[in-house]
Amino acid sequence: MLRLPLGPSLENMFLAKPVSDIQGRILLAAGVRLTRNFILRLSELGFHEVYVEYAPAEDVAERSLLHEATRREAVLAIEAAMKSRTRGSRFPVEEVSRAVEAVLREVELNRDIVAGLTMLKDLDGYTFIHSVNVCALSLLISMGLGIRGRRLREVGVGALLHDLGKVSVPAEILRKPGGLTEAELLQARLHPDWGYEALREVSSLGEEAAQAAYQHHERMDGSGYPRGLRGEEIAEIGRIVAVADSYDAMTSDRVYQGKKLPHQACEELAGMAGRSYEGRVVETFLAHVAVYPEGTFLRLADGGTGLVLRQTEQGPLYPLVRVLADPAGEALPAGAWPEVMANAAPATVVVGILEEEEVAVFLRRLELNPVD
Ligand SMILES: [Fe+2]
Repeated sequence: MLRLPLGPSLENMFLAKPVSDIQGRILLAAGVRLTRNFILRLSELGFHEVYVEYAPAEDVAERSLLHEATRREAVLAIEAAMKSRTRGSRFPVEEVSRAVEAVLREVELNRDIVAGLTMLKDLDGYTFIHSVNVCALSLLISMGLGIRGRRLREVGVGALLHDLGKVSVPAEILRKPGGLTEAELLQARLHPDWGYEALREVSSLGEEAAQAAYQHHERMDGSGYPRGLRGEEIAEIGRIVAVADSYDAMTSDRVYQGKKLPHQACEELAGMAGRSYEGRVVETFLAHVAVYPEGTFLRLADGGTGLVLRQTEQGPLYPLVRVLADPAGEALPAGAWPEVMANAAPATVVVGILEEEEVAVFLRRLELNPVD
């Protein structure tokens, strides 16, 4: 299966996985043929991509670190925490720790190289899904840094609830497309303070968890907020969640920002390592996150085009690639697709990545879609 951006070029392709809303209700079942109408409706509902059947990608694994059930459990825990703030009810400590345990278990299973955290992120669901991703990524970084036991759980809780303070920011500001006015920006930038206060009240969560909310927008060079802390003044958990939060935000579809591909986000983070972000944290992150996730189309130095099949033990820069088109751009016959390791030889150096529109053009031109 292949995860592709939702657009007209997917017409007549078959869904490889059901499309569900944030509550887990199935909107379209697996196996459904995508009509123009379905594609339109899903776009209107805020979906940006779907999994489709695609012969050359038959054996490409699903690009998802977390199971839907885990993701949903974590979303419900965040929702409960937010409700407890707005309604003044009991804080859902057990739900939150159960959700963190579930995320932790899956991250531990997948810790070699992960990809595919971003899924549906419509306007309303964004904060939730984003927070779950930040939790998974923060745990991944922390494990790479050797953090274990109770501290690891505190990182998980803090990362999951890092944006809890957003419940106190007016929804119009959070959802506003385009730039914010100075006054609105000031309000939005209070969410770390609010989150910190909220989490500090629940002492069983641990002081570190509260620090994650307080410090995730601080930057090593002092350019962050709310306090403009520098370097070691920022707690380690704050430095970790900052990287996870930035990466997931960069690679998400949001109203006010164009989405970056994983390799672009990785490059950007690497470029800011040692300035905005702690070098050691960025390094650990980059060693564990897929630069070229499964299902990405790569342009190789010899002119060929291929599809990333899976990650390898050589590390994030060296995925296994199935070459689908030769240097002249001609489709290679089905079944005779060579498999090469990207960046392992001069001919297989990655010189580019097909962007969304280019993938659609590529699929149409090669007529590789087997479903008609
Ligand atoms: Fe935030």
